[in-house]
Amino acid sequence: MSRFKVLAVVQDEDIRFEIRKSLSADESIALVGFAAADEALLTKITGYAPHAVLLVKRKEEAGVLEYARLIYQKHPGCALILLTDEISLESVDSAMEAGIRKVVGLNDLSSLAGTIIKVSVLEQGRGGEKHKETRVISVYGTKGGSGKTNLAVNLAAAFSLSKHRTAFIDLCLIYGDASVYLDLSTKDTIAELVQERSDFTIDDIKSFTLQHASGLNAILAPSKPEFADYVTPRHVEKLINLMRPYYDYIVIDLPADFSECTLAALENSDDILIVAKPDISGLRNTKMALDVLNGLQQTEKIKLVINTERKGLLNHKDFERVLDMPVSFSIPEDTKNAVISMQRGIPIVMGMSSNPMAKAILGVSDYFYKLRGGAAK
Ligand SMILES: Nc1ncnc2c1ncn2[C@@H]1O[C@H](COP(=O)(O)OP(=O)(O)O)[C@@H](O)[C@H]1O
Ligand SMILES: [Mg+2]
Repeated sequence: MSRFKVLAVVQDEDIRFEIRKSLSADESIALVGFAAADEALLTKITGYAPHAVLLVKRKEEAGVLEYARLIYQKHPGCALILLTDEISLESVDSAMEAGIRKVVGLNDLSSLAGTIIKVSVLEQGRGGEKHKETRVISVYGTKGGSGKTNLAVNLAAAFSLSKHRTAFIDLCLIYGDASVYLDLSTKDTIAELVQERSDFTIDDIKSFTLQHASGLNAILAPSKPEFADYVTPRHVEKLINLMRPYYDYIVIDLPADFSECTLAALENSDDILIVAKPDISGLRNTKMALDVLNGLQQTEKIKLVINTERKGLLNHKDFERVLDMPVSFSIPEDTKNAVISMQRGIPIVMGMSSNPMAKAILGVSDYFYKLRGGAAK
């Protein structure tokens, strides 16, 4: 059975934690992300197409019910649940009028999962046309040099070459080098975007996006390490959510860290590809990363990728045994062509699509076509 996707609209970190905690035990629920009650919310809902939206309203907060009304009108099939510290006949009444299906006290979230399932099933009767979902795919790994960027740029290029609307975001904010792989100039990057248009819109994003020969739209990492600090987790969340409705795939290249911006990207992604080299330190670090991501309820999104698997080293079976998780993809080593493609700035799936490394990456893209419910176009 596919799981019930839930989006929670709440800023407060403590409440986010409580929600995560109460939903973590229920396997039929996937907490797909958090959002703020702001103008980007409806766009975010279009992108995620959640079965249920949790709206948090504390006594002093106004405006939440206005968003409930809008979601109710624009997103039939999406159930609304209000979490509040103010339960009175009057407040429940106005919630119902705004299209809320159920009001839950913030002080007791123990049966929240059951409530979500119940109201989601009810709401599906009111469902509208099924939206073909955008997939936001983060490429992550615990070490530099594991092959994250190589996979991310090639995967994005593969999506784009098969006529999918594709964006690529380089969130390696300090040493992002996707511009080298894609042979693009770093004049306009994410740093210029957030500095020049702090309250950016989708039009601003588009004007800071570079088009690559494969057709993909790229937002590049800052041209200098010192510009990384301009980018905040709020920027990352907003960027992803504003872009969602305009693309079939958004591929994000992440650094080997757990910075706030990296976490924001991971939490706002649908899929996380974890790339590891088949050696002891790759295995050990991946195990630690999986533990952290498990604590953040991100495990469901993860697919493991072994890069440069070859005889004599640890193999994918060792990884599966230690990590207790399948290895979904294995990319063979091809140093000569990896170097050539990087030097030319042409992703290997473009110039050498019959090469085994390119084929393995095309296999990853095939997996996502199927997940979105279609073949390559
Ligand atoms: N499957 C592979 N076979 C051979 N070389 C590879 C492979 N994957 C990546 N590389 C090379 O390894 C180096 C590091 O890869 P990169 O993707 O930049 O790592 P990361 O982004 O994890 O730091 C690059 O020179 C890249 O061309
Ligand atoms: Mg990299």
